[in-house]
Amino acid sequence: MRITLSVIKADIGGYVGHSESHPDVLAKADECLAQAKKDKLLVDYHVTKCGDDLQLIMTHQQGEDSEKIHKLAWDTFIDCTELAKQLKLHGAGQDLLSDAFSGNVRGMGPGVAEMEFDERGAETIIIFMADKTSSGAWNLPLYKMFADPFNTIGLVIAENMHQGFAFEVHDVKEHKKITFNAPEEIYDLLVFIGAPSHYMVKAVYHRETGEIAATSSTQRLALIAGQYVGKDDPVCIVRSQGTFPAVGEVLEPFTLPLLVEGWMRGSHHGPLMPVSIPDSTPTRFDGPPRVVAAGFQLSGGMLVGPRDMFADKSFDNARQQANDAADFMRAHGPFEPHRKPLEEMEYTTMPAVMKKLAGRFVDLD
Ligand code: F6R
Ligand code: MG
Ligand code: MG
Repeated sequence: MRITLSVIKADIGGYVGHSESHPDVLAKADECLAQAKKDKLLVDYHVTKCGDDLQLIMTHQQGEDSEKIHKLAWDTFIDCTELAKQLKLHGAGQDLLSDAFSGNVRGMGPGVAEMEFDERGAETIIIFMADKTSSGAWNLPLYKMFADPFNTIGLVIAENMHQGFAFEVHDVKEHKKITFNAPEEIYDLLVFIGAPSHYMVKAVYHRETGEIAATSSTQRLALIAGQYVGKDDPVCIVRSQGTFPAVGEVLEPFTLPLLVEGWMRGSHHGPLMPVSIPDSTPTRFDGPPRVVAAGFQLSGGMLVGPRDMFADKSFDNARQQANDAADFMRAHGPFEPHRKPLEEMEYTTMPAVMKKLAGRFVDLD
């Protein structure tokens, strides 16, 4: 069965501040998608949250970039924004950058990850959702999952994965893309994806079959809007088992609470903490950044699940390390590398301060 899995998300208002989603808003979104399922536009859906981000997980047969599906998501965000405004949630409608829907939500603020595929005999899917960080956060985990034999032993000992994976990388500043083959081109690949605020892994493909293995949302809200409007708070869909990395290989990269950009005012670096969905409540210095993982088996497009994959105790050490790293980074206060470099911060007072001090700078000789 040919099926499309779409994950479309937006921050349409936070509760309290930017730390969490309001349950009434989630219930409203559920209502909207239940109607779409009843109308047979959706095969199935699941509404969830990561921190202050509302996540719409939808299966359907309309293909990627479907106007109907994107309009459904957009209208759901609008209805939820209405409610968020009534509740006076913080930043109601913050990710909806346009007043009118024009056929596709890409570039309008919401984050989108979609993939279309033939559902396998057993179709294992992990959906990663992160808050208080940006799309580049997936670069290191995706590299480990699909190119690093120290993470994914299947690359070494499973015949159906031994030919490796291809990485589609997007240059989000120049709007260009390029594909690298792993393992042969990993040194070239790493030159780019090691700079995750500029080059982001958009998709990964199984080289032998050309099958889609993973896809991420790569939009950068700050670049779309030309000024700070919120975090990208990205999502990523990964297919697992069989010709793809096993569930344990897909989750393993997150035992490292890698340093990502985001956190307070989108202007810091901090550890990405893997947590259960209820624990995605970034409260300490508006963080530290969180990642959750919802696991599903698909059955004729029905979403069997979710299993809350990071609720597992085996991620306790990663959480402890993340808290220790958070203490260490926080001790730097307003200094780099905790604070992002001047040109990368999402809030800045530099132009105003420069203007005020214009007459006080004197040349050194
Ligand atoms: C938002 C975020 C927060 C806010 C901060 C200030 O995703 O990460 O750290 O940037 O709470 O928010 P405002 O400007 O809305 O008062
Ligand atoms: Mg918010
Ligand atoms: Mg958010």
